[in-house]
Amino acid sequence: MEQATSADYGYLRQLVFGLSQNVLDPSRDYLFDTRLTKILRNQGMAHLDELVLHLRMRKDPLLERAIAEAMTINETSFFRDSRPFELLRTELLPKLIETRKHARGLRFWSAACSTGQEAYSLGMLLTEHFPLLVGWSLRIEGTDICGEVVERAQSGCYHRIEINRGLPARFVVRYFDHVGEDWSVKPEIRKLTHFRQGNLCLPTLPFNRAGDRFDVIFLRNVMLYFSQETRKTLLAGIHRLLAPDGILFLGSSEQPADPSIWTSVLSGGTCYFKPRQPS
Ligand SMILES: C[S@@+](CC[C@H](N)C(=O)[O-])C[C@H]1O[C@@H](n2cnc3c(N)ncnc32)[C@H](O)[C@@H]1O
Repeated sequence: MEQATSADYGYLRQLVFGLSQNVLDPSRDYLFDTRLTKILRNQGMAHLDELVLHLRMRKDPLLERAIAEAMTINETSFFRDSRPFELLRTELLPKLIETRKHARGLRFWSAACSTGQEAYSLGMLLTEHFPLLVGWSLRIEGTDICGEVVERAQSGCYHRIEINRGLPARFVVRYFDHVGEDWSVKPEIRKLTHFRQGNLCLPTLPFNRAGDRFDVIFLRNVMLYFSQETRKTLLAGIHRLLAPDGILFLGSSEQPADPSIWTSVLSGGTCYFKPRQPS
């Protein structure tokens, strides 16, 4: 067999786009070679061109999904870009807690949660700084398209290197158990979190029931992989899922695709978005 041609890479890019809406730049085609080695090995294949030929000849939805998932970028860390968490602690959560004091419930969604650090960071923040929430109904949802990272999030186990990125030492001591080489999130925090696989680019979002409203949504560092059109559709769906006084955080380099339905608020060195209501 020959090495993959540009048509093979084009086929793979299209396949990934079709399933996850991630737009991969041709200048990064080499990533297919590095990231699909495990899949090639499992298929008993030596080169990407064999894989493409196989897919061209026969539909294989499971294999196609595995390829799309393998091409996701799962970079994350605890309290990544600490400013949104700090703003929640000092300003936004106290206000939300006041307005929810009768309903006694708060819902959070880490959309594109990767290996779960964002969701667990929220759990630790709530537990550490808001003891008055004991007895409230608190739920932190985490979803990601990639099954492998969702399993890791569910396991709540992190390597020393992951723990050393962004986590204050006292949080490690207080909220993790040391298990062999790894650190495991304590049940007190895990019970707040719920992880599952979910694609943000399907016609229906992972949450779509009438009462599925969130108080805070983190949609960070994922839209940069999407086209402008996908971002617009996704943010319209997110708008419907936020409570009228809810809060959306995007990644520090991301902006709403349709600014007309969002009010942006600059505070504490960061920006968050509130859904504008139709007048
Ligand atoms: C760079 S990580 C960001 C993780 C976290 N939000 C953060 O900011 O640290 C991007 C995540 O988006 C996920 N992702 C990419 N396309 C997606 C899609 N269509 N639906 C859901 N998740 C997706 C990837 O699997 C990856 O875990």
